[in-house]
Amino acid sequence: MKLLKNDVMESPQTSPRLDSGVKSKKVYLVGAGSGDPDLLTIKAAKVLQLADVLLFDRLVSEDVLEYVSKSCIRIFVGKECDYHTVPQEEINRLLVEYGKSHTVVVRLKGGDPFIFGRGGEEIQALEEAGLEWEVVPGITTALGAAAALGIPLTHRGYSSQLILMTGHKQKDQTVSEFHEMNLLNKTLVIYMGLNRLVSIVTDLLHSNNSKDTPVAIIQNATLSNQKVVTGTLETIVEKYNREKLVSPCLIIIGEVVGLRK
Ligand SMILES: C[S@@+](CC[C@H](N)C(=O)[O-])C[C@H]1O[C@@H](n2cnc3c(N)ncnc32)[C@H](O)[C@@H]1O
Repeated sequence: MKLLKNDVMESPQTSPRLDSGVKSKKVYLVGAGSGDPDLLTIKAAKVLQLADVLLFDRLVSEDVLEYVSKSCIRIFVGKECDYHTVPQEEINRLLVEYGKSHTVVVRLKGGDPFIFGRGGEEIQALEEAGLEWEVVPGITTALGAAAALGIPLTHRGYSSQLILMTGHKQKDQTVSEFHEMNLLNKTLVIYMGLNRLVSIVTDLLHSNNSKDTPVAIIQNATLSNQKVVTGTLETIVEKYNREKLVSPCLIIIGEVVGLRK
């Protein structure tokens, strides 16, 4: 590659080889990114092309599945919040079984495998079975959605902390984790929070956060059918009810939402 006179980089003659750098006999936990297939990493595309077996979730877009060869065994495990087509224990068992019998096994998940993706549990199962594994990170929905909307998740003077939380209530949980949460100089991103929107907003208001704190709810972030509803802690529930948003949705709360053009 050489530099042109005006310092613009000249493109290489050939595109990078997608089949290089992938080791054999491994189970790969691969992040498919936040939805837009163009946000898939090059490494994820390489691994997908070599997959002998693919276990994938509901939130993985059809276009991403096109990287997989025709001979690859595809297993839909359809997992999402509150809708486990295949229980996690069974997914772990399948990963171990195929990891022993096949060369390249890919567990493909929406976003990033380690952000609310139960990737840690799957790795534990693979470790216990003595199998080789590798994680290929993906663009988690918080980053994809924020970029698509032009919301800087951190910004000098507005937010110096980014908090990623699940809205999914844990078993035996009595006190809401949104109770006594001060959002000053922070950005809060909530995954799987749609069903608890009313109680989350109520808790945040009771915690002395301004009723004018900006909120965005993004449905199908980074996809062609992306839908965005914005408001404040005071107005967002009414707007959400009016717009009839459905899963998957991400909630972003904080002053940075107001910086969106
Ligand atoms: C089980 S979590 C998986 C998160 C994923 N591992 C990630 O890093 O983005 C599923 C939740 O992620 C959020 N989500 C995933 N994809 C989304 C999308 N395209 N648009 C909006 N929210 C999405 C929703 O809150 C959904 O309920």
